[in-house]
Amino acid sequence: MINEKWPYPRIVAHRGGGKLAPENTLAAIDCGHYYGHTMIEFDAKLSADQQIFLLHDDTLTRTSSTQGVAGDLTWDRLKQLDAGTWFSNKFRGEKLPLLSEVAERCRRYGLLANIEIKPTTGLEALTGTLVARAAAEYWQEMTMPLLSSFSRQALQAAQQEQPDLPRGYLMHEWQDDWLRTTQQLECVSLHLNYRLLTPTRIHQIKQAGLRILAYTVNDPCNAIELLEQGVDMLCTDRIDLIGPHFAG
Ligand code: G3P
Ligand code: MG
Repeated sequence: MINEKWPYPRIVAHRGGGKLAPENTLAAIDCGHYYGHTMIEFDAKLSADQQIFLLHDDTLTRTSSTQGVAGDLTWDRLKQLDAGTWFSNKFRGEKLPLLSEVAERCRRYGLLANIEIKPTTGLEALTGTLVARAAAEYWQEMTMPLLSSFSRQALQAAQQEQPDLPRGYLMHEWQDDWLRTTQQLECVSLHLNYRLLTPTRIHQIKQAGLRILAYTVNDPCNAIELLEQGVDMLCTDRIDLIGPHFAG
């Protein structure tokens, strides 16, 4: 059955500030908040010394001032990097944030969070365990964050570590065993590439008692259609066009 106490809104700012700020930074979260968003999604992984910080890619090349696998570096090294200039000179000096700093920002703004567990390859279970443990600690006086991952291993580890934290399973391609997977992981939601969604699939997923998050929806007409079809949440980069005002 659908959980009636579902606390999350219909629109989620992707990577904090969508395409308006350097993704997965505190500046991005400030931006999402500035545009009136009440929930943000971001990607979390481990440094070599097991600090949890925000980064989408396995490597640092695209979104920071250096190259290489992010998980190979300690936090002492990672915290020195510039994570803003790649996006714009206006964000020069912006840092990679720790999950603890992000939690503090969420508390300050009253923001809800979708923590996407994005493990470095080979560290799926450890990342799931440590992110779930930290999320339960940092968010203990706030609404619990929704944990999600493409990695079943990461979600299984999170489930074992903190069974009460809500979990969503991410699918980029359609998987026929989605129902068994979400049942085994005791997920509350299925998070899908919006292109996978058809009215029939939406109906089947909702019949299974799961909420649906569609990503990454950047066209307002598309967003309206998906919400009308029964999608519960949309993750968007167009935080300026698709927001709480839009969801009605
Ligand atoms: O969690 C939704 C979305 O962020 C998943 O894809 O690659 O943008 O992390 P990605
Ligand atoms: Mg993500």
